Amino acid sequence: MTERIAVIQGDITLQQVDAIVNSANPPLLGGGGVDGAIHQAAGPELLAECRGLGGCRTGEAKITKGYNLFTHWVIHAVGPVWGGGGSSEEKLLAGWYRNSLTLAEDKLARSVAFPAISTGIYRFRVDLATQIAVREVSDFLKENDSIDQVTFVCFNDEAYQAYLAEMKTVDVEL
Ligand code: APR
Repeated sequence: MTERIAVIQGDITLQQVDAIVNSANPPLLGGGGVDGAIHQAAGPELLAECRGLGGCRTGEAKITKGYNLFTHWVIHAVGPVWGGGGSSEEKLLAGWYRNSLTLAEDKLARSVAFPAISTGIYRFRVDLATQIAVREVSDFLKENDSIDQVTFVCFNDEAYQAYLAEMKTVDVEL
């Protein structure tokens, strides 16, 4: 375990961190799940800013202000839909984490919260998605000291248990 990665069970819209990451869809105009919750909590100004972003491709990320949220930035990133594993889903998900963290770093965000991206409506296997999440975040933190802490915010028990188990594999030196 490392203090630079936290795992909690909760609601990402309540997190007091510099940046939260949204699991968006390509038009970036809101949706269900965590995307819907973030837009609802942030208020209509978030949607207005998103309209000007020109959408986002799978694996990539864009950034807006947090408006009524307790966070300064919202990183909107589009994760892959799980289709059986033959469409580069794992590679796209890994890129999603790297691109989100790079954007956070560009904005000098020192604390970042992630939901269990792609494991809801996009049907990614929770165990595999969790392995990728923990690996990509710990690799990034090892190479960069610009971000102090990443929090994985798990909404349901399945994700929470998967993250707790996966965190046992993380280097104590991080
Ligand atoms: N806080 C944290 N996690 C949440 C919240 C919340 N408020 N609400 C839902 N979640 C969790 C879900 O329980 C799941 O573990 O986020 C994870 C991802 O689920 P989805 O929101 O369904 O996202 P995803 O599978 O990545 O699908 C993205 O869904 O909402 C649409 O516009 C979005 O089309 C996109 C798609």
